[in-house]
Amino acid sequence: MDLLLLEKALISLFFTVILAILISKLRSKRFKLPPGPIPVPVFGNWLQVGDDLNHRNLSDLAKKFGDIFMLRMGQRNLVVVSSPELAKEVLHTQGVEFGSRTRNVVFDIFTGKGQDMVFTVYGEHWRKMRRIMTVPFFTNKVVQQYRHGWEDEVARVVEDVRKIPEAATNGIVLRRRLQLMMYNNMYRIMFDRRFESEDDPLFVKLKALNGERSRLAQSFEYNYGDFIPILRPFLRGYLKLCKEVKEMRLQLFKDYFLEERKNLASTTRSDNNALKCAIDHILDAQQKGEINEDNVLYIVENINVAAIETTLWSIEWGIAELVNHPEIQQKLRNEIDSVLGRGVPVTEPDTHKLPYLQAVIKETLRLRMAIPLLVPHMNLHDAKLGGYDIPAESKILVNAWWLANNPAQWKNPEEFRPERFFEEEAKVEANGNDFRYLPFGVGRRSCPGIILALPILGITLGRLVQNFELLPPPGQAKLDTSEKGGQFSLHILKHSTIVAKPRVF
Ligand code: HEM
Repeated sequence: MDLLLLEKALISLFFTVILAILISKLRSKRFKLPPGPIPVPVFGNWLQVGDDLNHRNLSDLAKKFGDIFMLRMGQRNLVVVSSPELAKEVLHTQGVEFGSRTRNVVFDIFTGKGQDMVFTVYGEHWRKMRRIMTVPFFTNKVVQQYRHGWEDEVARVVEDVRKIPEAATNGIVLRRRLQLMMYNNMYRIMFDRRFESEDDPLFVKLKALNGERSRLAQSFEYNYGDFIPILRPFLRGYLKLCKEVKEMRLQLFKDYFLEERKNLASTTRSDNNALKCAIDHILDAQQKGEINEDNVLYIVENINVAAIETTLWSIEWGIAELVNHPEIQQKLRNEIDSVLGRGVPVTEPDTHKLPYLQAVIKETLRLRMAIPLLVPHMNLHDAKLGGYDIPAESKILVNAWWLANNPAQWKNPEEFRPERFFEEEAKVEANGNDFRYLPFGVGRRSCPGIILALPILGITLGRLVQNFELLPPPGQAKLDTSEKGGQFSLHILKHSTIVAKPRVF
């Protein structure tokens, strides 16, 4: 390490310690803060609780400190909420007060300090972005317009897998083909285009850059520089890489997708709404001066992450659970065969006639929530929660995974049992009608993509189970379902090899 840098860091550390002690003395007089481990100057609780603040570790801390607790992570306040009552308070009753988002040094880079929709604070910009995005993305009309495309995409997956002899014997990493499908499902909506194969160079580039964006943003390895500003110089290399990835991605969106649509719009009549894809609507808003070009690019960025990855992870989890629970898989297949008839392809309208399929999806989203801590919320101003004072700009995590997996609230929550949604949990829906079950959040900042995600999950899982017997690879009794948690995400650690034995109709 550079000596001058070390000297500067030590001097800053000294003054920060003094400042932190002064601030904490002032604060402790004014505020009744939520319980939590006792922080030390500068580092707060960071050295005690470590970096890996995933949903399970935060659930363990809730058992120790209660349904609301606070961690001081260097300069940042982190408040974790772990009961349905407090979740209701954050997301519904005080939805405006807690309806902003925090970002950290890395999310600042990837979202241009909140020029997007997902990570912007609650206010005018967010309202405008949500309004502009609703018609092209988040209505039932969009579902009806694009569902044939999604049915076509999964039909191609089935056709391709049937053609690979190895799929029926040693198995294949099914996720790879499903990833192409998910990109096509969303790129059809966004840009009215699709990628022909997994080898399409543009798809390969896009997938790699999006993968890097997720890895860099969800990693815990940059926490130290985010929590403790004087350590930030050591994060220089990491942040430089984030900036490069961000620039390359936005440039790719611009050069290969936006420009193409703009050129098309200038050569064809674009007054026919039926022929417009999502980006045409967004570009209209830009032309009217409602948003700027950066906002357009960040909308594309948001959809690439919020829509494609979450849905793909959920499909992957659903398949893994069905492989590991063959009796549930068979029961689902029997339902599809008996309601639709053998070999009649599952379509979007059919998914509403298949209650067991719906229960399998709900159970997957309960046990294997893709965004188990929701997207972090934030209060812009000092606030009250559960009888405690919450200092302005605290990061508020709602541990939605624990709400849906707490044995005090759910019968044998560790069990994958879709039947619970016909029995003791028959009234619970994925739309947030019960504060114990919030896979898409609820309230102002809830997921608007639920309207697309549920039918895509239904069509995809339905078609796969209808067409294949899904099994672990030879010599393996079960798939490895170890988890990989991130800043607020959860996906399967290892992409499984799956045997897909085609059914004959
Ligand atoms: C299974 C798939 C999905 C899951 C589990 C999921 C889950 C979530 C969750 C938990 C949130 C945060 C809620 C909160 O902070 O209170 C969220 C936000 C969001 N999701 Fe999804 N999502 C999925 C699919 C999608 C899709 C397909 C789209 C778009 C087409 C989408 C777009 C968004 C957007 C734009 C936000 C930010 C909303 C805001 O900040 O106002 N999501 N999602």
